[in-house]
Amino acid sequence: MRHIISPTDLTVSELTDLLNLAEKIIQNPKKYSEVCRGKKLATLFYEPSTRTRLSFEAAMLNLGGNILGFSSADTSSAAKGESVADTIRVISSYADICAMRHPKEGAPYVASLYSSIPVINAGDGGHNHPTQTFTDLLTIKNLKGRLDHLTVGFCGDLKFGRTVHSLIYALSRYSSIKFVLISPEELRIPTYIKKELLEANDIPFEEVRVLEKAIPKLDILYMTRVQRERFFNEEDYIRLKDTYILNSRKMSLAKEDMLVLHPLPRVNEIATEVDDDPRAVYFKQAEYGVYVRMALIMKLLEVDLC
Ligand code: NCD
Repeated sequence: MRHIISPTDLTVSELTDLLNLAEKIIQNPKKYSEVCRGKKLATLFYEPSTRTRLSFEAAMLNLGGNILGFSSADTSSAAKGESVADTIRVISSYADICAMRHPKEGAPYVASLYSSIPVINAGDGGHNHPTQTFTDLLTIKNLKGRLDHLTVGFCGDLKFGRTVHSLIYALSRYSSIKFVLISPEELRIPTYIKKELLEANDIPFEEVRVLEKAIPKLDILYMTRVQRERFFNEEDYIRLKDTYILNSRKMSLAKEDMLVLHPLPRVNEIATEVDDDPRAVYFKQAEYGVYVRMALIMKLLEVDLC
């Protein structure tokens, strides 16, 4: 039995297989519409979500399976003080696989220690979000044609943004990747990522403050929302929230084939005028999330791929 807690829990070759399966599903969704008949996915969401939870649920329904779960801690027994360990022991007898989102870093990992069904981390605090990363990789692979030889800019809240952390770990395994980390001083990438991953593996990166200066050299620009729910005080959030707003003027400085990704939800960091730019692919990215999760559920349930 496999769990997916971190973005590197799949080897590069397993990831290639996953993305290829997602691609096959895109080409012929009907072929997969019954492969999970009789199986149940539990979505255990202790934090708000639109895309992640609903795309997991859509994925299982598209595979012919069923879904159950809760969408906030308040409506689960967590509100009565139940531990994640106890909850997952019980859910293990109700479902075949589960996706868990939790505000505490490491909660899905703890769940995996007590679970007898595969646990998928659907976002743990400001730490990791592996299935968003698989979605991002499918988007880049399909729309850019490759996952190597890329200069990738991350812009916004690099401190608390779990999608950023996970994608940096995943992309670091491909050759000739350079990172441009664009953020205010207060929202820089955590030191452990710089030291343990980037510096330890000689992966080129620079930390900059100004988006306009960085944008001309990028192949991918990954915009992020300032993560309000992780701030200790509202004043800091208000001061930092509009540091970056991508607009048409800034897009005119970018390469003609640069892609703009965003895990969504967007707040102010991308002006809606950018949505019509063919390089803005964030809505397409959200669509890919369903296919990659279909592929992941199939892989973890060891469904016959025939
Ligand atoms: C992201 C998350 O939850 O980390 N959303 C998502 O899953 N697509 C990004 C965010 O909330 O800013």
